[in-house]
Amino acid sequence: MQVKKIALLVSGRGSNLQMIIDNIEKRKINGRIDIVISSKKDAYALERAKKYNIDGIYIGKKNFPDINERNDKIIEILSEKQIDLIVLAGYMSILSEKIVQLYRNRIINIHPSLIPSFCGRGYYGEKVHKAVLDYGVNLTGAPVHFVDEGTDTGPIIIPKPVEVDFNDTIETLAKKVLEVEHQLLPLAVQLFCEDKLKVEGRKVRILGTV
Ligand code: GRF
Repeated sequence: MQVKKIALLVSGRGSNLQMIIDNIEKRKINGRIDIVISSKKDAYALERAKKYNIDGIYIGKKNFPDINERNDKIIEILSEKQIDLIVLAGYMSILSEKIVQLYRNRIINIHPSLIPSFCGRGYYGEKVHKAVLDYGVNLTGAPVHFVDEGTDTGPIIIPKPVEVDFNDTIETLAKKVLEVEHQLLPLAVQLFCEDKLKVEGRKVRILGTV
């Protein structure tokens, strides 16, 4: 099986990027990160990429103020590098429909709450955990999903609930959810790279054994 070429899109500290790097190094993922694209110039994720000699590039509002030019630049890089899989690992920008259509069922994202609750436009970072706590639900999660034209609306690949305890704060909840993200995102990438994910309508069938 050919090694899959992966692009990681990031905006922040890149702990999920690190998990994918680690799993590639452990040979659990049959893939290679060919590019890290950051929407933030000073994202620590770019430093991490550099440390591992992975190409990293900033494509954001400052160097590409026009949203169409920004997305076209991303497409140019992805096609130049013949990317098989795009992983959104804390990417805080919205991808254009053009990218979603070009890479249908080949873009993986993670959201830090149980979709379809507390997700969609405006729900990102700590705001998600605050909304979960304010509502008082006792389950949250970190579902990995494929990206479609909506925001957090694509087919769910692997869900895993996380219990919300009475005394949880935004910080403790974010920590618990992040631990689950760190398991599920590399696992989804691993399965994709083994051609084990088959999208059937809104469901994702996992082929073979995990
Ligand atoms: C994660 O909490 C993820 O759910 C959200 O952004 C955060 C990314 O963290 N989309 P990191 O940059 O991978 O450390």
